[in-house]
Amino acid sequence: MNLPTISLNFALSADGKISSVAKRPSGWTSREDHARLLELRKNADALMVGRGTLEADRMTMKSPQDPLRCVVSRSGNFDPGHPLFHTPGGPIHLLATEGQGIEIAGATLHRGSLADFLEELSRLGVRHLHCEGGGSLAFELLALDAVEEVHLTWAGHTLFGGREAPTISGVPGGFLPGSRKFELTEFDPRPEIGECFLSYRRVRE
Ligand SMILES: NC(=O)c1ccc[n+]([C@@H]2O[C@H](COP(=O)([O-])OP(=O)(O)OC[C@H]3O[C@@H](n4cnc5c(N)ncnc54)[C@H](OP(=O)(O)O)[C@@H]3O)[C@@H](O)[C@H]2O)c1
Repeated sequence: MNLPTISLNFALSADGKISSVAKRPSGWTSREDHARLLELRKNADALMVGRGTLEADRMTMKSPQDPLRCVVSRSGNFDPGHPLFHTPGGPIHLLATEGQGIEIAGATLHRGSLADFLEELSRLGVRHLHCEGGGSLAFELLALDAVEEVHLTWAGHTLFGGREAPTISGVPGGFLPGSRKFELTEFDPRPEIGECFLSYRRVRE
């Protein structure tokens, strides 16, 4: 498969969870976390989120270089009234993997598998695809073994918490086909805000 280089960015609470209540906005863990999120977007040709995150966080997915804005769904039940579709920015590409999907003016709708969509983005010239969640989508990317970089904000000052709460590899119960190894490339503790910024690169043996 000819895929873009894919990176993930997540904020984790003390127990490794990424969200306390499904469908509730997770927000930023700190001003610095938000600044890092914006910085990480700058290197991307395309940004990507799952429809759950788009809805929960009311994302408009903007960055100065106007990267492609990609949203992944099984049902394709995109809300035409969502702020994403009314905010200027990069071209919008929507994926419906199972349903027919809703056509929305100004957006390109794709149908097919997530793997095919990633290949199509590569054909469109996307070299670096940056995914900002959520856990369900990240699980699928990790299952495809398509993730090369992981960026984390470790926010140990908070517990999102809960047995059912997702991690960066989705909700409890789903196992990846195998472990994925990464090496640490950045370790940036910020004791003044009680957080640590981490980056990892995939190690392929
Ligand atoms: N802490 C953080 O850094 C962080 C980051 C991102 C999100 N979050 C939080 O996570 C929560 C959202 O979680 P979530 O699990 O709903 O997020 P999600 O992964 O963004 O969305 C799940 C939805 O995405 C679609 N999807 C996922 N995988 C797919 C695949 N392989 N193929 C096709 N469609 C796929 C499906 O959409 P359809 O239902 O349309 O079929 C699915 O219902 C929110 O509370 C959000 O704030 C936290």
